[in-house]
Amino acid sequence: MKILIVNGPNLNLLGRREPGIYGSRTFEDFLEELRRHYSDIEIGYYQSNVEGCLIDKMQEEGFLSDKPADGIVLNAGAYTHTSIALHDCIRSLKSPVVEVHISNVHQREEFRHHSMISPVCCGVICGFGLDSYRLAIEAIIAVAKGK
Ligand code: DQA
Repeated sequence: MKILIVNGPNLNLLGRREPGIYGSRTFEDFLEELRRHYSDIEIGYYQSNVEGCLIDKMQEEGFLSDKPADGIVLNAGAYTHTSIALHDCIRSLKSPVVEVHISNVHQREEFRHHSMISPVCCGVICGFGLDSYRLAIEAIIAVAKGK
């Protein structure tokens, strides 16, 4: 099984950026633990601050590849709330996409309450800290088993 985790803008600063909201652990450290825990799953990782690069990567792994990923875990950061381009990308992919957020966006500013991508994702997980990513992987495994 192959799963791709994609992190959008500013998530390269995890562990250092607003630790009161996003925690003090780096994503690289967390990713090591995830890969150990799911040693039978190939977990790819990509981060970019650039909207078009996120789209290129998701097209590559979720559409153009001979063997598209079984699922994509996407934290699109602030592009969640603005990006029609990401919406269009996700709806054209062969791989199911799970939208994740570390924080509970619904407890925060109103501009974070709307997601441009939720309608085209197979589900949304938010508010569980970094554990949101693990829960999304569990959801992808469940979706793949149900196929
Ligand atoms: C976030 C929530 C977004 O509103 C914010 O712009 C982020 C991170 C989260 O993981 O909680 O960059 O996606």
